[in-house]
Amino acid sequence: MTTLEFRTIPEAHADRALDLHYLVFHDDAEEERRKAHRDILLHCDRIGAYDGDELVGLLGAHPLRLSVPGGELPCAGVTFVSVAPTHRRRGVLSGMIRELWRRCAAAEQPLAALWVSEAAIYGRFGFDPATRSYTIEIDSSRPLALRIEPDDRPLRLVPPQDAPAVIGALHEEHRARRAGRVGRDDFWWRTHILREKRDENEDLSPPRVVTIGGGRNGEPPAGYVLYRTLGSDDDNGTPGVVYVEELEADSPATAAALWRYVASIDLTDKVRAWGRPVDDPLLHFAADRDQVRVVQEFGALWLRLVDVPAALRARAWAAPADLVLDLTDAGVPANAGRYRLTVAHSGATISLTDDAPDLSLDVRELAACYLGGTELRHLVAAGLVTEHTPGAASALDAALRTRELPHTADEF
Ligand SMILES: CC(C)(COP(=O)(O)OP(=O)(O)OC[C@H]1O[C@@H](n2cnc3c(N)ncnc32)[C@H](O)[C@@H]1OP(=O)(O)O)[C@@H](O)C(=O)NCCC(=O)NCCS
Repeated sequence: MTTLEFRTIPEAHADRALDLHYLVFHDDAEEERRKAHRDILLHCDRIGAYDGDELVGLLGAHPLRLSVPGGELPCAGVTFVSVAPTHRRRGVLSGMIRELWRRCAAAEQPLAALWVSEAAIYGRFGFDPATRSYTIEIDSSRPLALRIEPDDRPLRLVPPQDAPAVIGALHEEHRARRAGRVGRDDFWWRTHILREKRDENEDLSPPRVVTIGGGRNGEPPAGYVLYRTLGSDDDNGTPGVVYVEELEADSPATAAALWRYVASIDLTDKVRAWGRPVDDPLLHFAADRDQVRVVQEFGALWLRLVDVPAALRARAWAAPADLVLDLTDAGVPANAGRYRLTVAHSGATISLTDDAPDLSLDVRELAACYLGGTELRHLVAAGLVTEHTPGAASALDAALRTRELPHTADEF
């Protein structure tokens, strides 16, 4: 029987931690990639599981600011999760997660979030997808057919190193409109958005950034697209592809102009946009839905409410409500209990009560609905939430609703 100890991984063990990560993910990074991963790891809070002197588990947590309806909250952005193959299924991950909850409480981070490599792992710890995304493909072997007139202002290619200064304000404005988005500082732009090469596909070009509108006297642009390209392969007949990583626009006409631009790049026949919002206007203003197709839908950001009362108090609400929620939480027992949630124009109050519940649910289901991306009534229909008072789920849905669906573009 081994005794595990969970403690901070010191900077001196960063290379051991990366070795463990590469072992677990069947990876082998050359020097430059390793250096980039090292920078990112050292920027994270690092929880290690030690069996004696041996590092057998690693969990990193970025100190993020996540947009929530009407504001933003500190959030632990979980990453680098790795357990030595010799120590699997012995509670290493469970122990690291318990330590994470302790640290979140100490650092006053009401939220934790992650991207999953396997969907079966994190539900038991109270995470659930709070934002969903589409992958959209455009057949760009012919001009993109549109139902609206695109913005005809000139386009401008921006060097990637200038992109944070040129498009950062626009990104921040859109982040405030859509919950689920990560605040970016220079470090984040450099390490997560504008990396020269993508880990998943080193054949892709460096990032290209094109803006439309603005640009004079420091005026911010009206929209931008960030993309990479892959040249055609004549040997096996595959066409060149434009990979859109981000496209933000102030108006439908501006978005239309940017989509038309990426669909018209020479020597490419396809646009693939991974991780688009489920309510992307493109899906409505594209004239030919055979040309613009949703090829994949997936849960994007998995969220965990580590401090439920703090999370509920911090968000803005769309409608008044007065409901009693009976909440279970096996991982963070301090959250469990019966709460009266009263939402008025001034905000929400939440207090413990003995009154009969209107809804019974687990913290996992609350995470799914918290940003407005999932409706509770669907979880009632799925047997995951119990509605004791008819109409209670719809009343809470009305209060949780957001104008634009939550969306996360930053994978970490
Ligand atoms: C996935 C991984 C982190 C799990 O770590 P672990 O220390 O073996 O997990 P634990 O022993 O704490 O298991 C906790 C629970 O999760 C379950 N679980 C663990 N891995 C699972 C998986 N891949 N699929 C489904 N359930 C899983 C365990 O069965 C256990 O359930 P129980 O409490 O009902 O018995 C580890 O196997 C690993 O490093 N895998 C490769 C890397 C990876 O996938 N990382 C996740 C990146 S997002």
